[in-house]
Amino acid sequence: MTTVEFALLEDAEVDAVAVPVAKPADGNLDGRLTRLTETGELRGSRGEAVVLHGDERLVAAGVGPRDQVDAEALRTAGSAAAQALSRVGGTLAWKLDESLPVPLPEQAAALVEGTILGSYSPGRWESNNDTRPVERIVIATEETPELRSAVERAAIVADRANRARDVANEPPNELTPATLADRAEALAAEHEHLTFEALGPDEMRELGMGSLLAVGQGSRNEPRLIVLRYEPPNATNKDVLFGIVGKSITFDTGGISIKPAGGMQDMKGDMAGGAGTLHGIGALAALGTPVRAIAILAAAENMPGGGAFRPGDILRAANGKTIEVINTDAEGRLVLADALWYARREGATHVLDLATLTGAMELALGDFYAGFFANDDDWRAKIEAAGAASGDHVWAFPLHPRYRRYIDSTYADMKNGSTLRQGSPVLAAEFLQEFAGDGPWAHIDMAGPGFLERSRGDYLHVPGGTGYGVRLIAELGKLLS
Ligand code: BES
Ligand code: ZN
Ligand code: ZN
Repeated sequence: MTTVEFALLEDAEVDAVAVPVAKPADGNLDGRLTRLTETGELRGSRGEAVVLHGDERLVAAGVGPRDQVDAEALRTAGSAAAQALSRVGGTLAWKLDESLPVPLPEQAAALVEGTILGSYSPGRWESNNDTRPVERIVIATEETPELRSAVERAAIVADRANRARDVANEPPNELTPATLADRAEALAAEHEHLTFEALGPDEMRELGMGSLLAVGQGSRNEPRLIVLRYEPPNATNKDVLFGIVGKSITFDTGGISIKPAGGMQDMKGDMAGGAGTLHGIGALAALGTPVRAIAILAAAENMPGGGAFRPGDILRAANGKTIEVINTDAEGRLVLADALWYARREGATHVLDLATLTGAMELALGDFYAGFFANDDDWRAKIEAAGAASGDHVWAFPLHPRYRRYIDSTYADMKNGSTLRQGSPVLAAEFLQEFAGDGPWAHIDMAGPGFLERSRGDYLHVPGGTGYGVRLIAELGKLLS
């Protein structure tokens, strides 16, 4: 866990001091930095970090055009400083800049968040990984209660996002549905008001979860329905239960409708929604957010084989509806179907599912926005507000009864895919809606921003898991409490 403290620079022992620099780089800069602006070595471009070696290391972290500086620019500067110090690590002090158009608590929080996210290395399995994270952050200003709570919150949430990245990056020979359940159990043990439970195949069979079970039946690694309950004694509204459901396919080969070989290794990240869900509820517990929540991870491995489900199979889900399988690679919606039903059965009032669901959503929105669907205006507005505030960006897509025909089946209540090459993300959302029960529900298709093939060029600068969902859930918890 990264620690954050307040201290004046003369009192603090640090490995480096960093300062945000806007473009054009002028104003209240240290003399050494002013000289660099004259030579053109320092411009204040967003994401540019220049390290100067004098009595102490000084990092000038660019935030881009002054009038466009926002939390995202500051997160990117925080990350750039962490990257520039990746051979040093240790303690980094941030000087804030009152002349920037972002209030100091928000400014400090964004710099802390960016520093922690930018310190993340996905090379945990390298024999010689010599990247050093910033482990301690000093805010070089006088402490106020507002500043303290802003940076403490930012540090907790960013650390949890990094833990979700670790889970998403774990290889599928290590992270199976059962070991994912172990991770959840260990997380629950860290927090007083967080409890853990996992249902195995027999228990799921008793509940009639024929949809989730079918996806898992081709793998020797049995499926699990992983459940975490956060019950804070001081919940402000006992009638609200925030239900978070995460697609947790520990590896998606596509099953009998097998995927092409190219890039298939990234399908270890097909549980990124579950990783965000897991550490999202962990963040609520760590923050002590006064909202009741339940997290459900629908965990299975989608494999071909003699025992695998097939196109043509007709499944019966826990809500009694029947599903004709058109494509075994459209497995995410099948595991979510039973998990959404379970969330409602447990009393969830506001349901959110997070899923790396369709390749088409990544084609549409790339790695920045996740597309989302909601059946309720107020819930949609809350998710949009949480997306904008947190940095887990969302863009609204439509649900409409006229799309229901995309999933009409000749043989069953619905089918899980279609041969029309149209509207794949809306088709999937229509499918999920059949299982979302009554009350506010939203579906986030995070196929793009959930797991990166390459750097995004901002504070998420390494390939792999991004922790998408953790920051969003932390913010939504606040809005629901
Ligand atoms: N896990 C994939 C979606 C995905 C693709 C996520 C690329 C991240 C990057 C999902 O299970 C899938 O295969 N979806 C199919 C559905 C189709 C068969 C109806 C898709 O989108 O192609
Ligand atoms: Zn698939
Ligand atoms: Zn998948």
